[in-house]
Amino acid sequence: MDLQIAGKKALMAGGSAGMGRATAERLAEAGVELYISARREERLVRAAKEIAETYGATVIPIVADSSTDAGRATLFEACPDPDIVAITIKPPAPNGDFLQVTPEMWRESIETTLLGPIEIMRHYIPHMKDQGWGRLLNIGTFSAKNPMIWRLMSGPARSALINYTASVSREIAQYGVNINNILPGMFATEGSEENAMAYADAFGLEHDHEVIAEHFQQHNKIPAGFAAIADDMAPMAALLCSPLSRYIVGQNIVIDGGQHYSLF
Ligand SMILES: NC(=O)c1ccc[n+]([C@@H]2O[C@H](COP(=O)([O-])OP(=O)(O)OC[C@H]3O[C@@H](n4cnc5c(N)ncnc54)[C@H](OP(=O)(O)O)[C@@H]3O)[C@@H](O)[C@H]2O)c1
Repeated sequence: MDLQIAGKKALMAGGSAGMGRATAERLAEAGVELYISARREERLVRAAKEIAETYGATVIPIVADSSTDAGRATLFEACPDPDIVAITIKPPAPNGDFLQVTPEMWRESIETTLLGPIEIMRHYIPHMKDQGWGRLLNIGTFSAKNPMIWRLMSGPARSALINYTASVSREIAQYGVNINNILPGMFATEGSEENAMAYADAFGLEHDHEVIAEHFQQHNKIPAGFAAIADDMAPMAALLCSPLSRYIVGQNIVIDGGQHYSLF
């Protein structure tokens, strides 16, 4: 399928690993000029080089933290006029006892998972409106719709994000600018691997990968029968970043192997 985005400029904020990288690869494969950002430089530069070599694409790495004003300023300067902006972050670590969640933890969650994406979208929307076309995509979490007691640092702020995008997307669709969200369930990524020990701590488990995996299986009944890999969501992400999605406005696409049981 021709995504009709060859020659467009695409920014994947959070593009050096996991679902951000998989999305970046599908966009590069479709012929965009690609900008990818992340906080950790070494992995970012390596990802940019690998994607450029694999797809013959132009890939510009930008070291920038999407959750800070300074990081976003760096992003905006390095990539001033993208046609496509996709945004993600590392999954926040699981919280333990909800009574131990402090105001500082809430502030960090909100800065990272809510304000970062909102401020990035707010910056780029006027340019997209002016040019009469744009695509904005958030890679959030299914716990925005499916509350989980151990995902308090991830779900509640993303519920607010999809509330915000539900409204803003209806304001800007008339200009050819669409916002949608992908809400992933359980994916085996670099980020989930980095959280494995925090998951063990949240449930009082031994720091043992087999114990963690077994607990995870028992507590996450996934009808599809497996935890996904990032490529299980990237084709949908690329579609939502293309002109082919012109009638898809303000939607939340859950990709979770059927784990979240709901009609809508
Ligand atoms: N994996 C899962 O099972 C799962 C489940 C539900 C929801 N999700 C959601 O899916 C999204 C992607 O998760 P993932 O597992 O693909 O993560 P990942 O493997 O950790 O990849 C995240 C990417 O974003 C970058 N990043 C993280 N924080 C950033 C920041 N503040 N500013 C700029 N770049 C940042 C990371 O690089 P640096 O760390 O170097 O910055 C990396 O390139 C997240 O929103 C997560 O909450 C994941």
